Amino acid sequence: MKIGKEIIRLGTIDSTNAFATDLAEKGAAHGTVVVAENQTKGKGRLGRIWVSPPGGNIYMSIILRPPTELRNVTLLTVMAGVACARAMRRNTGLTVELKWPNDLMVSGRKLGGILTEVKSKAGSIVFAIVGIGVNVNVRMEDLPSDVRRIATSVRNETTKEQSKDVFISDILDEFDTWYESLVEDKRELILDEWRGLTSMLGRTVQVTTGSETLTGIADDLDEKGFLIMRLPSGIKRKIDAGDLTILR
Ligand code: BTN
Repeated sequence: MKIGKEIIRLGTIDSTNAFATDLAEKGAAHGTVVVAENQTKGKGRLGRIWVSPPGGNIYMSIILRPPTELRNVTLLTVMAGVACARAMRRNTGLTVELKWPNDLMVSGRKLGGILTEVKSKAGSIVFAIVGIGVNVNVRMEDLPSDVRRIATSVRNETTKEQSKDVFISDILDEFDTWYESLVEDKRELILDEWRGLTSMLGRTVQVTTGSETLTGIADDLDEKGFLIMRLPSGIKRKIDAGDLTILR
């Protein structure tokens, strides 16, 4: 089914990802999308809170029921980033860039993020929820100071208020196309597009994983969407998940 054939629009909700998870548990179809005006318990990666005030930002979750061969969530998040960055570039003219694994960046500030959550059984994904948050119309002064320091919005960058609905529809169109490539296992197509949408390759980055902090050169992504880092010793390390800062 086409992504976004059914869109459920909500006012205030705790988290669109939590709502979509409940729907998926109850059997909601692949491609169903949940969109909210604001969230009271928006979830970010690594247990963080995603500040989600009302007023025209995107808070959206997509329910996916991938084929059993798709076991790799990192590549799904990378693919979702490609879809979002392309859609946000198209209508804003902003140079929206991707920072591994899930950040949408403009001029070094965070415009949006993606949180992928999965339910698995016997090593296969039963369903995946791809949660997308994009700051469209939020005013910087309406964000807490710690978020304000690192975030931006379309309105902040372009000085214009914009309809989030156009972006939502473009993101869903792009998502539909790139998800197809993922299912058809056209990994190189996705990775090539990602490479063209990032400026972090070849730069010195610091990555914090669950167990360690590594500094090195961001070399590339592998076929699973894992980050390949070249450490000062010359050794290459593959990282499946972590928090990345571009140092220089
Ligand atoms: C990140 O930490 O960068 C990921 C943020 C993801 C936020 C979105 S907003 C819509 C969806 N529902 C949630 O609770 N979180 C995601």
